Amino acid sequence: MAEVWNPKEHSQIKESILEKYLAVWYMKITYRFRRAYYVDTCSGPGVFDSGMQGSPMIALKNAFKAWKKHPSCVYEFVFCDANADVLRRLEENVTNYLSSSEKGFSGAVRIRFHECDFLEQFDRILNEAKKNGTAAFLFIDPFNASTVPFDAIEKAMKGTSTEVLFNFMHSDINRNKRLMNLEKTERIMGKGYGQEKLKSVSVIRDSFVSDLRERTGAYVMYYTMKTSSKSPLYDLIHLTKHCHGLSIMKEVMSSLSKSPHYFSNDERYAKDQLTILVQTSQDSFYEVLKNICGSEEVGVQRLYDEIEHDDTLFWTKSSILSQLRDLISSGRIELVAGPKTVNKNSIIRIAEET
Ligand SMILES: C[S@@+](CC[C@H](N)C(=O)[O-])C[C@H]1O[C@@H](n2cnc3c(N)ncnc32)[C@H](O)[C@@H]1O
Repeated sequence: MAEVWNPKEHSQIKESILEKYLAVWYMKITYRFRRAYYVDTCSGPGVFDSGMQGSPMIALKNAFKAWKKHPSCVYEFVFCDANADVLRRLEENVTNYLSSSEKGFSGAVRIRFHECDFLEQFDRILNEAKKNGTAAFLFIDPFNASTVPFDAIEKAMKGTSTEVLFNFMHSDINRNKRLMNLEKTERIMGKGYGQEKLKSVSVIRDSFVSDLRERTGAYVMYYTMKTSSKSPLYDLIHLTKHCHGLSIMKEVMSSLSKSPHYFSNDERYAKDQLTILVQTSQDSFYEVLKNICGSEEVGVQRLYDEIEHDDTLFWTKSSILSQLRDLISSGRIELVAGPKTVNKNSIIRIAEET
């Protein structure tokens, strides 16, 4: 009998991040590129036993919306799953979806299913992703981080129009760190990473992210999924070479919560449910502002550009504005020019400390 597979709440949050991001990604890239290439390396069944849609259906649904606006773009999909039964269920779900959607769409899409470890097909997938006129999105969502070599992500990001969303399931690395030899550590964490640096989940995650930044040259944002008792479950790591991709992902994350950095106190989630925690910046907003402005007058638009396009800072346009308002009320910054209420046309400066 087929295994019953019900997603946990953190999976629903993950799907909702993917959904919101793909909605924007598909609409934008199908306007500019001739070919949209979506790859789900660990695709799962597409529809869970609870009825919740999984990543392949989310991608198809958003491609369909974009196709209605941009029908001349080519929509391609690659779905890999190592489990034959899961892949069979996915094929059925995809067929049902396409037969119930508008006819023109099923003729416009090209879908390949691979029953294998995705690494067996990876070079071929990346060659396709790098073809002219193509924008590619790779969702890498395994059960364990140790099955994904660092090199694979590094290679994927060699394409300037390729983005990756990687579910970094670091618990197995942390659990088995004493058993890991150098070869295995370097395979997962990248060349030059010694076992002695596998200290804790946060050390593993932080160095993984900073090495990705250094070796791919991409903007790298991560979002930590935690249990209600605050222990880290995994990090969703997003890599893009485009500053707009970075700002859109920041917006997506903050739209899932009323407070910018924290998802647990949201009334939409009950206290005993799993929660998502977004990284907070190391520096307070005021310190960052002081670094950018110094003693000069600075336009708010420039602040947007500098802060939004920095992948070590989480703040979105709306959270920048709300913090500027608070700092103006407390007298720590002054409004020098522009409208009475601070907006993108305003000029501000840091007030002199008394
Ligand atoms: C977490 S689930 C995927 C869920 C799916 N991405 C979603 O969001 O709906 C992991 C799936 O990946 C498959 N899988 C795990 N490692 C894999 C690998 N290295 N290559 C291909 N499939 C893999 C498993 O069989 C399983 O079906």
